[in-house]
Amino acid sequence: MTKKLIAGNWKMNGSLAANEALVQALLAGLAANAALCDVAVCVPTPYLAQLQALLSNGGMALGAQDVSAFEGGAYTGEVSVSMLKEFGVRYCLVGHSERRLYHGETDALVATKAQRVLAAGMTPIVCVGETLAEREAGRTEEVVKRQLAAVISANGHCVSEIVVAYEPVWAIGTGKTASPEQAQQVHAVLRAQLQAASAHADRIQILYGGSMNAANAHSLLAQPDIDGGLIGGAALKAADFLTIIAAAQ
Ligand code: 13P
Repeated sequence: MTKKLIAGNWKMNGSLAANEALVQALLAGLAANAALCDVAVCVPTPYLAQLQALLSNGGMALGAQDVSAFEGGAYTGEVSVSMLKEFGVRYCLVGHSERRLYHGETDALVATKAQRVLAAGMTPIVCVGETLAEREAGRTEEVVKRQLAAVISANGHCVSEIVVAYEPVWAIGTGKTASPEQAQQVHAVLRAQLQAASAHADRIQILYGGSMNAANAHSLLAQPDIDGGLIGGAALKAADFLTIIAAAQ
């Protein structure tokens, strides 16, 4: 059985004071109840140094929310993989639907970012997911497979080192969660696609994201191909995030 991963995506939330309070509460909760799953928080770039210091004794891994597809140079506003690495970053989200939607990120760009993250020895969390219109048109499978295929073809056998997050766009921040059966169905499709690409696909963690919360985490995480969660809103509340972590044990 794959070890589960519970990753928080803080998105564009936080402050020095709020981050410290949240992380201290999470570390205290984890110390009281050692997590049997992997735990990570993906934080806004300016807070990486703060989080690196707060997490210096372990407890949770540090993640970033995006990275440049370029190695370095004249790319104003961008952040490179080597910069993330200096701050102890272990995971980096790539292709989150908010990046695809608001920043025009294409499948090819997402695949290049995944490649950069892998080459730097970090783990990309590759996000895929269909919009409501795509689901209603019966195109869910086609869309998620296309998004994942780009990453597979750019990364070859290294694909066994990625984490995948299935995040149906219609479930993100809306309070509408995919049912455990709906999520499992897509996770099984993604697993089969990974198995066709890699002999080690069974160890690839496939996370579910989209309004996962303290109440629904257990039933989602009980599905055979749901290996964890990528949590937005509920990751900002220590008690909720700790409940989700406990549900993953
Ligand atoms: P919510 O949990 O707030 O729906 O966000 C999910 C998400 O986008 C995580 O990356």
